[in-house]
Amino acid sequence: MDLALLEKLTQTYGPSGYEDAIRAVIGSAIEAVADETRVDPLGSLIGYRRGQGGAHDGKRVILAAHMDEIGLIITHVEEKGFLRFTSIGGVRAAHCIGTRATFANGITGPIYVERRDDASKLPELQHLYLDIGCADRASCPVRVGDTATFVGPLMQRGSRLISKALDDRIGCYVLIEVMRRLDNSAHDVYFAFTTQEEITLSGARTAAYRIEPDIAISVDVTATGDVPKALPMEVSLGQGPAVKVKDGGMIAHPHVRDRLVEAAERAGAPYQMEVLLGGTTDAAAMQLVRSGVPSGCLSIPCRYVHSPSEMVDQGDVEHAIEVLLSLLRETL
Ligand code: CO
Ligand code: ZN
Repeated sequence: MDLALLEKLTQTYGPSGYEDAIRAVIGSAIEAVADETRVDPLGSLIGYRRGQGGAHDGKRVILAAHMDEIGLIITHVEEKGFLRFTSIGGVRAAHCIGTRATFANGITGPIYVERRDDASKLPELQHLYLDIGCADRASCPVRVGDTATFVGPLMQRGSRLISKALDDRIGCYVLIEVMRRLDNSAHDVYFAFTTQEEITLSGARTAAYRIEPDIAISVDVTATGDVPKALPMEVSLGQGPAVKVKDGGMIAHPHVRDRLVEAAERAGAPYQMEVLLGGTTDAAAMQLVRSGVPSGCLSIPCRYVHSPSEMVDQGDVEHAIEVLLSLLRETL
């Protein structure tokens, strides 16, 4: 894997609505391999690869991965300089305590929790605060509405990768690699690096409206059932990418699901079938634009989703790339 690229992707700042920096990183990575690129009004970056003609009927295909990451947004600054915040996307208090958050300008501090009379209950975000070392409110350089993201460097342990924001920079990585390796596809492929997935799916929704695709596929992370006392789920790290059947927001279109399964089998890649109880992806929004778009999702199994230490397996990432390449080589 190109771990230097993945490090840049995961470590670049980009909470929902503030994707400029990560868009620039992805833009320079795809510049040489796109026939055209453009930026949508809501900030999504679209890299286009023209179909090569050939034996099959070409379709308009979107592959979407979201650029944004979860984060925090400051709600008020206390007299003594402590920062109170709410979430951008699905941030849980239990994942925050003792971790660090960083602002776009690099100011960083620990997140901690107030002492509570009943410490047996899980705290809520309103009990947490961010301490960037200010003496008081007057000298605090942070204002209401400023945003921050988790600190979580990329580390490698054998085949496993650990970092913040693997949701969904690992999907962005997969799309970039597919763009780099794609040859002779009959299909017009739109690689959509979308904005604001973690809050409203609005980047994917508007990108799909403009592109009018025949088929839409998101590439995003999914949960696993292979950790202590996990919800029962037949997805494990290292057993291959997962072909989504259903999640909290959609049922994958059977046609798209079956093409993904066939692509995996043609490629000789391991794969899993995914039924996810909660959460959804850009595909849920893309299927609903105009008169409807058959949509599906290829998922990268990921432990500890929405924490500063998300974990994926390099084999699953590589096989996801192979499955998508195999998919784009055949009739859709
Ligand atoms: Co997410
Ligand atoms: Zn995601």
